[in-house]
Amino acid sequence: MVTVNENYLKLRGSYLFSEIGRRVNTFAAEHPDKKVIRLGIGDVTQPLAPAIIKALHEAVDEMGAAETFRGYAPDLGYEFLRKTISEQDYKARGCQIEADEIFVSDGAKSDSGNIQEIFGADNRIAVCDPVYPVYVDTNVMAGRTGSFDEEKGLWSDVIYMPCTAQNGFAPELPAKTPDLIYLCFPNNPTGAVVTKAVLQEWVDYANKNGAVIIYDAAYEAYISEDNIPHSIYECEGARECAIELHSFSKNAGFTGLRLGYTVIPKDLKRQGVMLHSLWARRHGTKYNGAPYIVQRAGEAVYSEEGKKQVTAQVAAYMKNASYILDGLKAAGYTVSGGVNAPYIWMKTPDGMDSWEFFDHLLKTANVVGTPGAGFGPSGEGYFRLTAFGKYEDTVEAIERIKRM
Ligand code: MLT
Repeated sequence: MVTVNENYLKLRGSYLFSEIGRRVNTFAAEHPDKKVIRLGIGDVTQPLAPAIIKALHEAVDEMGAAETFRGYAPDLGYEFLRKTISEQDYKARGCQIEADEIFVSDGAKSDSGNIQEIFGADNRIAVCDPVYPVYVDTNVMAGRTGSFDEEKGLWSDVIYMPCTAQNGFAPELPAKTPDLIYLCFPNNPTGAVVTKAVLQEWVDYANKNGAVIIYDAAYEAYISEDNIPHSIYECEGARECAIELHSFSKNAGFTGLRLGYTVIPKDLKRQGVMLHSLWARRHGTKYNGAPYIVQRAGEAVYSEEGKKQVTAQVAAYMKNASYILDGLKAAGYTVSGGVNAPYIWMKTPDGMDSWEFFDHLLKTANVVGTPGAGFGPSGEGYFRLTAFGKYEDTVEAIERIKRM
């Protein structure tokens, strides 16, 4: 008899952004006259930059000619892209990451979900609370999280690192030693960052305890302050303990195109095994790579024109972030984030819980955000707004919130 993977039955409700989508669609269907402004999921709204579109067109034409047609991509991704990443994202910052330590993929969401597969089922994970739900849910699917405590909203076998107003939304080193530590800076959902000195403490901690850090750097392009690391490999010893995930979604608008990459340095070994070779084996077996045309589009992000254009897009989103931050502060809300990240983390007013505030905001202002509780129990009482909307919509949303 066929049995199902019972770990899936342990998952809580539906995926956070699917649940939000469901509630918003119901509201919109019931109120077709209302203009709903969506500042919930962190999905970009600006069209792809001209340099990227040009590269896509050229690559499409290549695929239509016998001499330049490409079939399956190389396992790790095309060298033209991996070399560019190695030079511009790493060597230019003084980080020794080679092209053959980079694995090109269809995005950081899949990589952050799949990477746990190369680790033992008995590994103990540590996550920030609140946290991007993919890290926890994929470990639930793998049977690594134990049982769920409904009252506390916590998994028995997960080490939670609360990120609260008291610690500036930055996790403290956990009391129990984990095997895998998920970190994301600039942080989703709180928008918090850590300095290089603080990140160095995590690297030292991981090396001392034999742990591996899975470092999600998807929002790195939004860093505006000095002394905030763009990559964990800026820290000494990170090549021996860290895997880094990158996305082209947020810096270059690839949410619909799909492209990302993961770095596994060859110095990162556990039980004498190079994690690089395990991930390479997985890539070779389960994946045929991001499309050639999309990898060419990714290369264009690093061209002189491309860099200028995507930098301008990021600046436009950060203009939204400032508008949200300043507007909500002026209206008396307690807010943080939004300086080195496209997310603004606000305290819900009048002791409302975060789903209650979600419904209230949707009904009263027709604005969609993301309830903090969806990211974990320490997110309760908080709410996330994204800066990825259109400027006019962002302004209108904040004006509506001010009038509430
Ligand atoms: C978010 O809103 O948290 C992100 O857009 C989700 C994602 O990148 O998968």
